Amino acid sequence: MANNLLKGKRGIITGALDEHSIAWKVAERAHEQGAVFTLSNAPIAMRMGEINKLAEKTGSQIIPADATSPEDIEILFNKSMEILGGKIDFFLHSIGMSMNVRKGNAYTELNYDLFYKTIDISAMSLHRMLSTAYRLDAINEGGSVLALTYIAAQRTYPFYNDMSEAKAMLESIVRSFGYQYGKAKRVRVNSISQSPTKTKAGGGIKGFNDFYNYADACSPLGNASADDCAQFCVAMFSDLTKGVTMQNIYHDGGYSTTGATEHVIEKFSGEAFS
Ligand SMILES: NC(=O)c1ccc[n+]([C@@H]2O[C@H](COP(=O)([O-])OP(=O)(O)OC[C@H]3O[C@@H](n4cnc5c(N)ncnc54)[C@H](O)[C@@H]3O)[C@@H](O)[C@H]2O)c1
Repeated sequence: MANNLLKGKRGIITGALDEHSIAWKVAERAHEQGAVFTLSNAPIAMRMGEINKLAEKTGSQIIPADATSPEDIEILFNKSMEILGGKIDFFLHSIGMSMNVRKGNAYTELNYDLFYKTIDISAMSLHRMLSTAYRLDAINEGGSVLALTYIAAQRTYPFYNDMSEAKAMLESIVRSFGYQYGKAKRVRVNSISQSPTKTKAGGGIKGFNDFYNYADACSPLGNASADDCAQFCVAMFSDLTKGVTMQNIYHDGGYSTTGATEHVIEKFSGEAFS
């Protein structure tokens, strides 16, 4: 489905680790729609080498950048503008990581050094990227910045641990920076709150598969796929969504506004009142 929705647009896509990554799918769809872009990920993630396949497929160059390093981020924007031949029109922040989650630390006993790292990588990085782009004037008027988030920013999901705080901060940065960038340069900043998705980051969460099935049963359309998320990102990068900014938009098959589904209730049928 190529409608050239992004023809003539230049972008930066972060966070494509392997073919399951949401960012990977966004890169494929953006390429199909005529965009040119650079790809970026943490230098350590490059070791897997998977991203080279995506770069080849989409005719993109890779710029390693640790989301916590101001120097790396500045290089990312400067090099991207150099390679792509001008300011950029869209930017995808698709980055999240918690060592507390990875180590299985209980929420009630968080390691605070790791908590700080979670916030730095998963939330402050968006501010750092926006701030660098703002200072370098790296994004064209009407440009679109997107970050990926999860509903645990608003509601409690015990297994999501300190990532809940990171996503709450991420979404707040979307609003606060979205205001500043909108006023100054008409640049749009939004977040997409995605269904549970089977990726490296998603799969790192305890009990992910069970929860994936639960969320699927609680959504009238079922869980929204990574492919559909990528299409939505393309729409948000395109000129079809010019008036949308500072929003957190659910892409979740209806999960966030569903109270109950018959499918889930049936599982409790036959249980007597006590
Ligand atoms: N998978 C889900 O269920 C789900 C649901 C909602 C939102 N999200 C969000 O989507 C985004 C993408 O995650 P994904 O599910 O595609 O998983 P993923 O593991 O494929 O992507 C996460 C990316 O973050 C990158 N990253 C980690 N630390 C970094 C650092 N210091 N610097 C630069 N990059 C770094 C990783 O290398 C990886 O490419 C994340 O923000 C995630 O929280 C995922």
